[in-house]
Amino acid sequence: MSTTEQALKERIKELTCLYEVSSIIGNTDENLIEDTLTAVAFSLKKAFQYSEDTEIAISTSGFLISTCNVVENAESIQSEISIFNENKGQFTAYLKPSNALEKVFLKEEQLLLDNVAIKIGSLLERIEIQKNEASLKRQMERADRLGILGEITAGIAHEINTPLANILGFAELLKSDLEERKESIADIDKIIQNAIFSREVVKKLMFFACEMPQEKKRINIVPNIKNAINLLDATFRKAQVKYIVKIEEEEMWLRADPIQLTQIIFNLLMNAIYFSPKEGLVTVEVTTTKKDIILNILDEGKGFEIDDLEKIFQPFFTTKPTGDGSGLGLSVVHGIVASHKGRIVAQNNKNKGAIFTITLPKD
Ligand SMILES: Nc1ncnc2c1ncn2[C@@H]1O[C@H](COP(=O)(O)OP(=O)(O)O)[C@@H](O)[C@H]1O
Ligand SMILES: [Mg+2]
Repeated sequence: MSTTEQALKERIKELTCLYEVSSIIGNTDENLIEDTLTAVAFSLKKAFQYSEDTEIAISTSGFLISTCNVVENAESIQSEISIFNENKGQFTAYLKPSNALEKVFLKEEQLLLDNVAIKIGSLLERIEIQKNEASLKRQMERADRLGILGEITAGIAHEINTPLANILGFAELLKSDLEERKESIADIDKIIQNAIFSREVVKKLMFFACEMPQEKKRINIVPNIKNAINLLDATFRKAQVKYIVKIEEEEMWLRADPIQLTQIIFNLLMNAIYFSPKEGLVTVEVTTTKKDIILNILDEGKGFEIDDLEKIFQPFFTTKPTGDGSGLGLSVVHGIVASHKGRIVAQNNKNKGAIFTITLPKD
């Protein structure tokens, strides 16, 4: 074969490969990236001059794919896979050594490898963008749902608040009129207790719906947090749960309502204690970035069922047995965090337990 003919054949192989790679990429299922990479590796292998003796390995995004296991003493060329301008893996072509003739990679082969690596890089970029968009969309939908729930809740809470105040007021009046009649007084006390309980529920609902008057001022969050934890010291001891507080600096300033901040920590810690096993450890971590204060609360309990994660911030969602929980704590926390323009995220810890992360802007 003449060298021109040979060169032409190589060029055709190369173009065929590029065409194949493009159509493999075009048909990519974002959940089956591994299949795409494998197909690309085999397509590339065919394009090499000594394709029988060439093996391709791709390593990126937690995948390690190769057309053959190990190639020892092989000559190799590499191309970097970059995603958003960061090196995120590479393509390697190995050429098995042979005694017969001096085999080397062609310059064109390096170019081909570079070319395909660029294509895969932009495919992975596209997938990452899609994933981010999908998760952003889910977050928005959830925020929307919680927003609507907030409005409904605020309406209900308002409506109930006035009659409740009336029930309480009239019951107190009646009680003072009935000083002599012991039984009637006991009944009225029940009315009063129930009305007070309902008023607490309404108050929490108003918190969730950010309907409570707020008094924001510049405060140092550190004593606030320490205070809330001290208040719960006895509860920790009673439940035989341990805790550790990790605070980066003694002063971390932000604009917030101090009572509401205490309420956030209180609610999260009460849950953490409730779900902690005996001798379990609850960790409270506070760190700062330039713009935010970040509060992490971790426990060693059972964590969340994946399906529940969507619902835990909704009012009245609870997995606790009746009497143990009203399902309002986290909705209150969510309301407060939102009214401070912050974010709250719940997730399972890798090992065990739940993690709540609250990000509050400093101003
Ligand atoms: N630290 C935690 N570990 C596991 N599950 C939790 C934790 N905190 C909250 N949850 C889940 O979120 C639900 C709602 O919590 P919350 O709104 O505080 O209401 P309640 O405490 O009354 O159940 C809980 O019932 C539980 O299922
Ligand atoms: Mg709770």
